Amino acid sequence: MSTSTAPWWRDAVIYQVYVRSFADGNGDGVGDIAGIRSRLPYLSSLGVDAIWINPWYRSPMADHGYDVADFREIDPLFGTVAEAEQLIEEAHRHGIRVIPDIVPNHTSDQHEWFRAALAAGPGSPERERYVFRAGRGPAGDEPPNDWASCFGGPAWTQLPDGEWYLHLFAPEQPDLNWRHPEVRAEFESILRFWFGKGVDGFRIDVAHGLVKHPELPDLPPRPEAPAEGRPQHFDHPHWDRDEVHDIYRAWRRVADEFPGDRSFVAEAWADSPERLAAYVRRDGLHTAFNFDFLMSSWDAKDLRAVIDDSLAMLGAVGAPATWVLSNHDVVRHPSRYGREVVKRWVANETYRPEGPLDLGLGTRRARAAALLMLALPGGAYVYQGEELGLPEVEDLPESVLQDPVWERSGHTDRGRDGCRVPIPWSGRSAPYGFGPENASAAPWLPQPELWGELSVAAQTGDENSMLELYRSALRLRREHPALGDGGLRWLDAPAGVLDFGRDPGFRCVVNLSAEPYRLPEGTSVLLASGPVRDGMLTTDQAAWLAVRMPATS
Ligand code: NOJ
Repeated sequence: MSTSTAPWWRDAVIYQVYVRSFADGNGDGVGDIAGIRSRLPYLSSLGVDAIWINPWYRSPMADHGYDVADFREIDPLFGTVAEAEQLIEEAHRHGIRVIPDIVPNHTSDQHEWFRAALAAGPGSPERERYVFRAGRGPAGDEPPNDWASCFGGPAWTQLPDGEWYLHLFAPEQPDLNWRHPEVRAEFESILRFWFGKGVDGFRIDVAHGLVKHPELPDLPPRPEAPAEGRPQHFDHPHWDRDEVHDIYRAWRRVADEFPGDRSFVAEAWADSPERLAAYVRRDGLHTAFNFDFLMSSWDAKDLRAVIDDSLAMLGAVGAPATWVLSNHDVVRHPSRYGREVVKRWVANETYRPEGPLDLGLGTRRARAAALLMLALPGGAYVYQGEELGLPEVEDLPESVLQDPVWERSGHTDRGRDGCRVPIPWSGRSAPYGFGPENASAAPWLPQPELWGELSVAAQTGDENSMLELYRSALRLRREHPALGDGGLRWLDAPAGVLDFGRDPGFRCVVNLSAEPYRLPEGTSVLLASGPVRDGMLTTDQAAWLAVRMPATS
C-alpha cells in the first residue's frame, strides 16, 4: 500500500473461494453462497482485500462449474442471483471486493446454444458458434486434427450425424468459436450483466485459449527444450495466439464503462514473462496470474530468476505482478515443498508424488513462502485453506474421486480433488463445522481424520499457527508503507539466501540454504516464519525486518 491513489488491484490480496468446498450454508454437503456470506467476518478479520469466487453459474457440474449452462443464473446448488447480489453488497460493507470467474473458452453441452447447434445439424448457423468439423479419413471417422484434451484423450468428439466438435477440456465443455461476432457480443453482454450487479472484476478462465488457428492444423513439433532456461515460444494453433488480445481490448472498454476500478485477472499460461505481459497492457487486461512463481521449485536461484523476470517484464508494460502459491488446480504447496523435488515442478502435468512426504518440512517452507510472497511488489492470491496450512489429501478413496481427469485419464491420474477437500472450521472430527449442525449430508469429499488441529477455531489465537502467521502478515502488509505496490532492491547475501529491501525501512530475508544465516545488523524482526534465536535464521525460515534508519543530525 505504498501509494493510496493507486488502483486497488495493483496490490490487492485476493482470497480464492472454491465455493463447493468453502462453507455449506444449507447442509447439503456442498458449499454455497449462504456459506460464504456467513464467513465474511472471518475473511474480514483475515485481512483480505477481495475474493475470487470459482464459477457459480448454472451448470451440470461435469467440471464443477467450469461447464456453464447459463451465465446469467446461479446454480441452485449454490443459491440464487438475489443471494449473489446480497453477498456482493455485504462483502462491500466488509470492505471486500468480489471477483467471480468467467468461463469464455467453452460452455456446457447443456447450454442453449450447444443444444440448438446439435438440433440444427451440420452446416447450420447454430453450429458456427462452436467448432464443428468433418472428420478425417475415408469415412470421416478420425478426429479433424491431433489436438488433445487437457483432461486426457482427444480434443474431439464425434456426433451421431458424423460431425466432430472441439473440446479442449471435457466433452461436456464444447469450445466456442471466438471468430463469431455473436460470441463476442454475448460475452460483453454477460460482463455488463454482472458489472451491473456490482462485481468488481472477473477472473478469466483459460484466457490464453479462446482463439484457434483458422485452419485448425495439427500440432507442430515442439521446439526442443533447451538444457537451461525457458522453452522457445512457437506459434501454437490454440494456445496464446496474438489474436486473443483484441477480445480483451474490447473487454477493457466494457469494464471502463462502469464506475470504480473494475478489473480483470487472466488465467493465462504463457511460455515466458514477455508473452504474459502482452495480456496486461494499458488497453488490455489489468493483471494475470504469475504461474512461474507457483511452478518454481524451492530453490533460491530459481525463485529469484522468476521474481526478476516477472517484475521486469510486467513493469515494462506498467502492470503489477501477482503472486500465487496454490489454487484449485494444483497440488497444495506444503505437499509440493515437502518432497525433494529436483526438477521444476510443472503444473497441469500428471502429479505423482515421488518419495516420502515430510509435511513438517513442507509446512516450514510454506510458512517462509508466504512471507516471501506477501513481501513482493504487487498483488497476491491466497487459496482457501492455504492460510490453515492444509496439505494435499493424497489418499482419497478412488470411489469418491470426482474430477473428470480421473475418468478421462483411464484412472491413471487422480486429478485435482486432493486440493479441493472442504475446509475445516471447528471441532475435532469431520465435518469440522463445514455445514450447519443439522446438516442432511456429509461434505461432498471426505475430510481427513486429523484436520481438527488445522481448523480455523483450533488455530485462532495460537501465535505459532499458520493462520496467525497469515493474519499478522496481512495486517503488517496493510500498515507498512513499504509493502504492496512498488519496487524491490536485492541485497548481497550468500548463495541460497534471498534478501531484498523495500523502501522505506523494510527488508525480507529467506534462508533456503543449508546453513543458518545471521540477520543483518541494524534490523529488528517484525515477523518471522519460525522462532528466531540469537539473531539466526535457520534453514527454510523467512523474516520481515524493520531497518533502523541512520540517525539524521
Ligand atoms: C482452468 C480452471 O482453473 C480449471 O479448474 C478448469 O477445469 C479448466 N480451466 C477448464 O475450464
